[in-house]
Amino acid sequence: MARPLPKYTVPSLTPQDGAKVAEVLQQRLNALNDLALTLKHIHWNVVGPHFIAVHEMLDPQVDAVRLMVDAIAERIATLGVAPVGTPGALVKARTWDDYSIGRDTAIAHLGALDEVYVGVITDHRQAAKDVEELDDVTNDLLIGHLHDLELFHWFVRAHLESAGGSLSTASADGEKAAADAARSKDKASA
Ligand SMILES: [Fe+2]
Repeated sequence: MARPLPKYTVPSLTPQDGAKVAEVLQQRLNALNDLALTLKHIHWNVVGPHFIAVHEMLDPQVDAVRLMVDAIAERIATLGVAPVGTPGALVKARTWDDYSIGRDTAIAHLGALDEVYVGVITDHRQAAKDVEELDDVTNDLLIGHLHDLELFHWFVRAHLESAGGSLSTASADGEKAAADAARSKDKASA
């Protein structure tokens, strides 16, 4: 990263470590900003008989994720680094594709959203590990987010789960495949 070292950081961290932690946090800021926008996109595009359940389930998730974004950005600033919150920078820095589904049924969006949460949570856990030795406070912040993110992921998965406990998206690879798997499982059980 070409970013200059912070002139100060939190007590007991070196500026180098402060910069490292902030760099990890910046990518989580991008991921959760992206997630909040994606959740709203689904909120607007979901159609079909389960519309209202999914439409209404998503807004509290958006609110919670926006609070996480704010806490991450303010932790970056606390570490002495400038958080970057612009959409162009987000798109440039992200390593994942844009959410690919437009107007579609609840079950298709939930199948795809299962995949989105798998990606976000896996990376969030890795980020928590990456800062474990460097900064307990940031580690605690990220672990705190995971409590909610994993709960929200379960809310999504509960729609995709059979009475036997298996997920319709279990063998799907990627968002589109997960949406298709959820859709065909739903048709088969109708
Ligand atoms: Fe709304």
